[in-house]
Amino acid sequence: MSHDSDFDYYENMAHWSFDEYGIHEECLTDWDLYGLLKGLARPDSRILDLGTAGGEKVLEYYPDCAEILGTDYSPNMVETARVNLAKSGRKNISFKVMDNLKMDVPDDHFDIVTARHTITDPVQILKCLKPGGHLLIRGVDKHDCWNLKLIMGGGQGYNDPVPVSITDYENVLRAGFADVELVPIHTREYFRDKETFKAFLETVPILMDDSIEGGPLDEGLLDEYISKNTVNGHIVLYRRYYGLSARKP
Ligand SMILES: C[S@@+](CC[C@H](N)C(=O)[O-])C[C@H]1O[C@@H](n2cnc3c(N)ncnc32)[C@H](O)[C@@H]1O
Repeated sequence: MSHDSDFDYYENMAHWSFDEYGIHEECLTDWDLYGLLKGLARPDSRILDLGTAGGEKVLEYYPDCAEILGTDYSPNMVETARVNLAKSGRKNISFKVMDNLKMDVPDDHFDIVTARHTITDPVQILKCLKPGGHLLIRGVDKHDCWNLKLIMGGGQGYNDPVPVSITDYENVLRAGFADVELVPIHTREYFRDKETFKAFLETVPILMDDSIEGGPLDEGLLDEYISKNTVNGHIVLYRRYYGLSARKP
């Protein structure tokens, strides 16, 4: 998707929830952003979460500390996050509209910056971290759902010359971070039937990309995928994410 169509997509998704799909997720690897965050955070920590969406993850998983700021370039997402915050009763958390590529936060201010499934600029992140501060990124990699993308002939990242994990990794190194680690994350998602699987694929960006024709999903190709990837009565999606951790020297 282009930057503009990405923006419209997220503006329209401000009230999303995947609960209705009843997805069962199995994680095959153990890099866990929230676990690492809990290990790093102290009561006086200041945390910035980039591309926070409706703040659901911040409100559920981020530990209590001095300051948590969640930002998103979609005003609708930030509006949803503020509503969710009011319902949560949590303290020291705020949300604001901000483009990750035009960051507007103080220099040398945060102890931890997190970014989950969103675009980042490591140079700008480095500036806003205190010396010794930590960066935690989780992203969706090029080979996410690769067997589905091969059948469909395209999808997110399909034509990327280099997987986004490698581009991110190199950008974090080039920005000047230390202790940079890139870790693959493999999960499986199980769907109960074709109807929910199809509805999910029509909602998420996995198959939405310039590499693939727009329009309805090809039923024949979808059936081919389902016949090859149904295990114990459940349709399986093979997810490929990556985790990146780094420290400001
Ligand atoms: C896939 S969602 C991930 C949301 C959340 N981080 C999570 O893990 O559930 C991506 C979010 O990044 C936001 N986003 C995308 N590009 C952005 C940019 N350039 N600046 C700020 N936010 C952006 C979108 O509006 C959306 O809320």
